[in-house]
Amino acid sequence: MTPDPIFSIYPAAEAPAHVRRLVYKTLYRDWGVAREPEEHWYNPQQGGRFIVAGAADGTPLGVCRLMSPEPDDPDRAQIRQVTVNPESRGIGLGRLLMEKAEELAALEGISELWLNAREAAEPFYEKLRYRYTSDVWLSELTGIPHCTMSKFLEC
Ligand SMILES: CC(C)(COP(=O)(O)OP(=O)(O)OC[C@H]1O[C@@H](n2cnc3c(N)ncnc32)[C@H](O)[C@@H]1OP(=O)(O)O)[C@@H](O)C(=O)NCCC(=O)NCCS
Repeated sequence: MTPDPIFSIYPAAEAPAHVRRLVYKTLYRDWGVAREPEEHWYNPQQGGRFIVAGAADGTPLGVCRLMSPEPDDPDRAQIRQVTVNPESRGIGLGRLLMEKAEELAALEGISELWLNAREAAEPFYEKLRYRYTSDVWLSELTGIPHCTMSKFLEC
């Protein structure tokens, strides 16, 4: 099945509660991160925008967060909190979300996207042509092994 989601974009501080719930449930809850205070895992003050792939009834199926360009290197921006609802994985939604983020970033003149990939998601990012820029390190928040990866966008 080819997914045909409806995309919405929200400044991080304005993301609806059901988007925040999806992010918390799929990326933090099972790793013992407390739901409150949200500042620990959601950091709305860090900004960026949530790109949300939704079903026709508004249910969020997957999200990713495109951070603002870096003040000291405005050609670069980080992608964070990429996640797809467990029931909707494996049908191309993650790829569509990342492609949407890359499209938006390229339109804004960003030439490099980087991200901290959880170990289990590294093959997904490799498929999308992200390349390793670090050795393995452990997240202080979740304890999950990560690698930093990056991709130069074709403008
Ligand atoms: C990682 C994640 C976002 C991928 O989303 P998804 O919608 O399942 O991925 P897609 O169906 O779009 O897959 C795109 C491609 O990557 C491949 N892929 C996805 N996950 C993979 C994995 N774990 N191992 C190998 N390949 C994988 C798919 O086979 C597909 O390849 P194809 O285009 O050649 O068919 C999803 O599994 C997820 O939400 N995981 C839990 C949260 C998480 O760990 N997020 C990453 C935080 S850094």
